[in-house]
Amino acid sequence: MKNSKRIMVILALMLPAAAPGESPPEPHESLLHAPSLHRAHADAFPVGTAVPRDYLSDPAYAPRLEVIRRHFDHVVAENEMKWERLQPEEGVFTFEEADRLVEWAAANGLRVWGHTLLWHNQVPDWVFEDADGGEVSPELLLTRLRTHIETVMAHFRGRVYGWDALNEVLTSDPDNPFRDSRWLRILGEEYMAETLRIARAADPEALLAVNDYGMSDPGKVASALHLLERLAEADAMPDIFGMQSHMSVYWPPVEMIENSLRALAATGVRVAVSEFDMSVYDWTDTADRYGGTLPEPLALFQADRIARVLKLYRAHAAAIERVTHWGPFDDRNWKNNFPVKGRRDNAGLIDWRGRPKPAFLAFQSPEVFLAAFGPVPEWRPEGTETAPEVSVRADRSAYLRLNRLAVPPNTLVDRGRLRVSVELALAEDALEVGLDVTDSRWSGRAPDETVLRVYLAGEWHAFSAAAHEWAMSGDGERLRARVALPPGVIEAGESVFDLEWRAPAADPRGTYRLRWADTAYAAEVPEQPGVLRLD
Ligand code: XIL
Repeated sequence: MKNSKRIMVILALMLPAAAPGESPPEPHESLLHAPSLHRAHADAFPVGTAVPRDYLSDPAYAPRLEVIRRHFDHVVAENEMKWERLQPEEGVFTFEEADRLVEWAAANGLRVWGHTLLWHNQVPDWVFEDADGGEVSPELLLTRLRTHIETVMAHFRGRVYGWDALNEVLTSDPDNPFRDSRWLRILGEEYMAETLRIARAADPEALLAVNDYGMSDPGKVASALHLLERLAEADAMPDIFGMQSHMSVYWPPVEMIENSLRALAATGVRVAVSEFDMSVYDWTDTADRYGGTLPEPLALFQADRIARVLKLYRAHAAAIERVTHWGPFDDRNWKNNFPVKGRRDNAGLIDWRGRPKPAFLAFQSPEVFLAAFGPVPEWRPEGTETAPEVSVRADRSAYLRLNRLAVPPNTLVDRGRLRVSVELALAEDALEVGLDVTDSRWSGRAPDETVLRVYLAGEWHAFSAAAHEWAMSGDGERLRARVALPPGVIEAGESVFDLEWRAPAADPRGTYRLRWADTAYAAEVPEQPGVLRLD
């Protein structure tokens, strides 16, 4: 490690988690009497939590360990089993922090899940460098991977019951399904099967998982199914697929989670909900709106979302290996630094003052919560009830996120192979809309059955395949539509804007209706246009 880096690490380790002179809030006493979260779900699945390092090393956090002991039956080290912590320098293995958690867990009857053997983050640079600072050879990298996995798994053998062997190796583009990382670039696609084989041999008793985020995305699921197929062929199947499940109160819809869960479980793996939390912010919202106190309707809306998701998990209990919360104490949840640094997110179950939130009750007894409070109206922060906005500059194109499209649940079947991306660009005097739709069910469908409509200047402009602006390409599974609007429709400043793509109503498998500006998820949403801003 370079010196400056070493100093930074030491400084970071010395920093107290709470502000100087301030001790962390004590968990409210009621948490030690409330019915146990994990016992509440003992008929369905184990319930666990991630644990940050200082809960074990700083006595100020001792009361939290009592809460964890009561409410959870397994733990995951939030960071202490990542490569940079276990082998910061080549051949120097540092197990002390992780051991502390493992020993505490053993003494208190909790199981430990290992996170993680291979990841592109929190892995030191030396792993990918040779003695001269150049790129490591594939042979040496593989040897290092093997040494790391074998040493780590031998150390924890019998005390860690399973491992995230591969973390975040997928993309949401099934045509290009594997994440571009130093692992992939140096070792090639084979590294994934190899990692699983090495881990399996290192500790045949341990369960092995492939773990990833964004698993409600059908494209990501398609990539996962592709990987699992390849791993099965290579005789390197994992036991578990981990859906991280960092979600928000606005996304994803429960139906999408269910579709993914079914599709993954159908391959024969068990599914873990491995890093659950529930942000109160839409992904694209970077404002700091609430500090550490949620308005009551939002606290209830968050709880309602949690109850509905937990209810879904319970309905699929047979497929679920465990449900692990990634930070139930709001003041120590990682979402306070992601994606917006330093913003209090309130993504957990216990608030900034240590008191259980409605989310706690919802997590514990979803049915009771829903009976008492449901259905809770959706909460939107002031000024954001209107639909999304997009800015387009004359010299730049804008990319509209897929999660702005309202997708009816019946379009998300068939192994999740539905992918839509939208691009807006200005060309000369007109707006161009590029729409990419990939769907395995598309094959054989006549192109003139579909319609793309753009709402601008007070009217819908429809473009069908018959029009010359429309082009089909590829094998019929991918549709690339580039339509130029009549000049003069867009004016500088703000315009009301919407985008809709429809497939035939006659199709027995259901019709498509993808609307960009429907921020709420539902097949039938009241007209709610978005805003196009031309700078
Ligand atoms: C996060 C931890 O919670 C943070 O403390 C750390 O700074 C960064 O990593 N996906 C994963 C986890 O697999 O390891 C990440 O944990 C959250 C996203």
